[in-house]
Amino acid sequence: MGIQRVRTFVHGLDEKMEGGIPKGSVNLICGTAGTMKSSLAYSILYHNALSAGIPGLYVTLEQDPRSLLIHMEKLNMAKEGAVDIVSFNDIKEKVKERRVENWIQKLSGFLKEMKDEKKYELLVIDSLNALYSLTTIKDVRAEIYFFFKSLSDLGFTSFLISEMPPEGGRYGEYGVEEFLSDGIIHLLFQRRGGILTSLERYIGIVKMRATNHDTHYFPLLYQNDRFTIYTKEDLEL
Ligand SMILES: Nc1ncnc2c1ncn2[C@@H]1O[C@H](COP(=O)(O)OP(=O)(O)OP(=O)(O)O)[C@@H](O)[C@H]1O
Ligand SMILES: [Mg+2]
Repeated sequence: MGIQRVRTFVHGLDEKMEGGIPKGSVNLICGTAGTMKSSLAYSILYHNALSAGIPGLYVTLEQDPRSLLIHMEKLNMAKEGAVDIVSFNDIKEKVKERRVENWIQKLSGFLKEMKDEKKYELLVIDSLNALYSLTTIKDVRAEIYFFFKSLSDLGFTSFLISEMPPEGGRYGEYGVEEFLSDGIIHLLFQRRGGILTSLERYIGIVKMRATNHDTHYFPLLYQNDRFTIYTKEDLEL
């Protein structure tokens, strides 16, 4: 049976991974500060909504929704209501009656209700690190495993943003996320040039289960209203 796939709408990238990300998978979008993790995650939801009518939910636990939307407007993703955004305060308000102390469980419960309300297919959690800071995790591997599983069981294709320290290293804060997730999309800055050093952006698919994907790191640009990669063929032209 063929696997259904979700397009990233990053120009040139979907062809490098059999057409897109497996439906129902849990994916990390990792990178250091300012590598456009939020922009990439938002753009996947935005273009899926606009081009394919696929509804997406963006959970922002740190950055307030207004600041997020201002940034997306600057990137020409300004169509109102294309992506539903919920903040930490919205979730807190909705789950305040619940006796569950653990925020990971609270969020799972909230997402189930949201899924029942509107048949969201795509989900972003920005960020995993912010979610961890809200809760005490006792059994790291088990709790993260069950959390990831709950997202797939609910039928979401998920993009979990993971902040990496400048020195790189692990793709997730606890070091287990990279094994428990189905996919890892890595955003990277690299210094280029001599005296006037500049930073260039790159994107790499580190891991994508059930997918024959390219393992190159591609130069990444943002043009008009979307991300584009440059491939070897483009650069040779
Ligand atoms: N047209 C643009 N307008 C605004 N920012 C842009 C534009 N093009 C590129 N950027 C870059 O986008 C970056 C912020 O993107 P974004 O918020 O998605 O990054 P992030 O990885 O989520 O950051 P953080 O680590 O703070 O969460 C800015 O630092 C800026 O370098
Ligand atoms: Mg961000």
